Parts: sequence; structure tokens; C-alpha cells
Amino acid sequence: MKICVVGSGYVGLVTGACLADFGMNVTGVDKIASKVEGLQAGEVPIYEPGLRSIVRKNMAEGRLRFTTELGPAIEEARAVFIAVGTPPRPDGSADLSFIEQVARSIGQHLNDYKVIVTKSTVPTGTGQKIEKIVSEQSGGTQDFAVVSNPEFLREGSAIDDFLRPDRVVIGTRDQRAIDIMLEIYSPLRVADVPFVVTDVESAELIKYASNGFLATKISFINEIAALCEAFGADVGVVAQGMGLDSRVGPTFPHPGPGCGGS
Ligand SMILES: NC(=O)c1ccc[n+]([C@@H]2O[C@H](COP(=O)([O-])OP(=O)(O)OC[C@H]3O[C@@H](n4cnc5c(N)ncnc54)[C@H](O)[C@@H]3O)[C@@H](O)[C@H]2O)c1
Repeated sequence: MKICVVGSGYVGLVTGACLADFGMNVTGVDKIASKVEGLQAGEVPIYEPGLRSIVRKNMAEGRLRFTTELGPAIEEARAVFIAVGTPPRPDGSADLSFIEQVARSIGQHLNDYKVIVTKSTVPTGTGQKIEKIVSEQSGGTQDFAVVSNPEFLREGSAIDDFLRPDRVVIGTRDQRAIDIMLEIYSPLRVADVPFVVTDVESAELIKYASNGFLATKISFINEIAALCEAFGADVGVVAQGMGLDSRVGPTFPHPGPGCGGS
């Protein structure tokens, strides 16, 4: 199956390389020409264990290529993954302008049924926005489905997180799109990775709620660390004692500056 991944940053590059490794025929697109030129020469611009070898192997075997030409890559693809940035604006809201730009391009190059997959982290309701833009730009005539497929990888263990995720979330009401997504991820299905198949809005909210909850855990244990300092208690032991409660769980209650990301 031909797949286009728009954005060759952290998430796009890892997604494209791993999907190529699953046997998909992947074109990675980025608007930064120097990044694409480097990738075409097998140079990976970020350090991530295992990424360079998986990129080079799949390029050599002809399943992975990179380009700045978005239109042709969209036209030949059955599934278009959007993995562009969604940086915070000064007021804290997500800047969706890159997503909207890509959605316009997809609408303008919609030549056949396509699955439009949002990998970027977006607020709930973005899938509906993308649907509206694509529909307007395509003249409302073409057939497509928007799928929310949020990414949960952590920088530093991105390949491992992508290939062995805790779960894969697929949000769409379109059965044909569900079947295509399950085909794309079939190596993870045979590996017994849990799949959550739901509607677009629930999938979008799963990602935001997960990020919010992980941040809450960090904030909570940092508050406890402050209490420990005030009373001379040991936050490591407190966290361990808390984590042994199966309802709390052993992972993540470590005080520190944040929960990851760039
Ligand atoms: N980095 C992480 O750990 C992580 C984990 C999960 C989810 N996410 C989310 O995934 C999304 C992407 O994050 P990232 O870290 O990969 O960002 P990034 O900045 O590393 O990569 C984004 C890439 O998209 C490209 N781009 C932007 N607009 C484009 C366009 N119109 N056409 C082609 N390319 C375009 C940029 O040039 C850039 O290379 C964000 O929404 C982020 O929140 C990130």
C-alpha cells in the first residue's frame, strides 16, 4: 500500500520509517528542502536509537523515499498521515495552521478515495475541521475519511515505542478506513498489541487526556517532593510506597522537570 507521511520531523520520520519496515511503500514529505536533501542521502537529522539503520535499510530496499513535492505524493497514496507540528500559541492554544495548510493541499489533490490520518497531537474537533477543509477544497465531490491515530512515542525510545506500543488508537466511523488502518498496522495486531477503535473525537481526546494525566502525575509527585523536603521525608521511598498500590501503579511517579517531549 502506498502511504504519504507529511512532515519528516520526530513523529513523521519515525512513523514513515516504521511503516516502511512493516512493508508499506512510504513517501515522506517535508517543506524544508535541506532536511529532505539530507534524508535523501541517508542522513537522519535527529538522534534516536535505531532510527538511522531502519531509514537506510528501507530506503535501500526501495520502500522509503523523501521529497518536498506534496501534490504527487498525495495523489499516489491510499493513506496520507499528517505529522506536522502543532506548537503552542502565546495563549496556550495549539497553532493548527500547519495542519490546515496540509488539509488544503490534500483537498486540492484528492483524486481517489483516501484515508487522511492525523498523527499530530491536536485538540478535539480538529478532525471535523480537517474534514470541512478537505471537502471544500475538493469541491465536495470526492470520497475520503478522516482518522485520528494519535502518537504516544517518547523521544529517546521512539522506535521501540512505535514498534511495541501500549496501544494503538484508531478513531473513525468509516469502516473502509478502519480496514485500511488495521491492514497498515497488521504487524502490531499479530503481536497482540491492544487496539482501541473508536470515533474521531474520542481518539483525539484519548491523546489530550493521556498527556494531561501524565503531566498531572508529574505535578502531583513534585508537590509531594516539596512536602518531603519540608518534613525531611524521602520522596523516592514515598513514591515507591505509593506505586506498590496497584491502583496507583509503579510507573512514572518520579519527581522531575517534565514528562518528556522536545
Ligand atoms: N516529538 C514527540 O515526542 C511527539 C510525540 C507524540 C506526538 N507528537 C506530536 O506530533 C506532531 C509533530 O511533532 P514532531 O515532534 O514530529 O515535530 P517536528 O517539528 O519535529 O516535525 C514537524 C515537521 O513538519 C514539517 N512541516 C510543517 N508544515 C509542513 C507542510 N505544510 N508540508 C510539509 N512538511 C511540513 C516541518 O518542516 C517539520 O520538519 C506534533 O503535533 C507533536 O505534538 C510529538
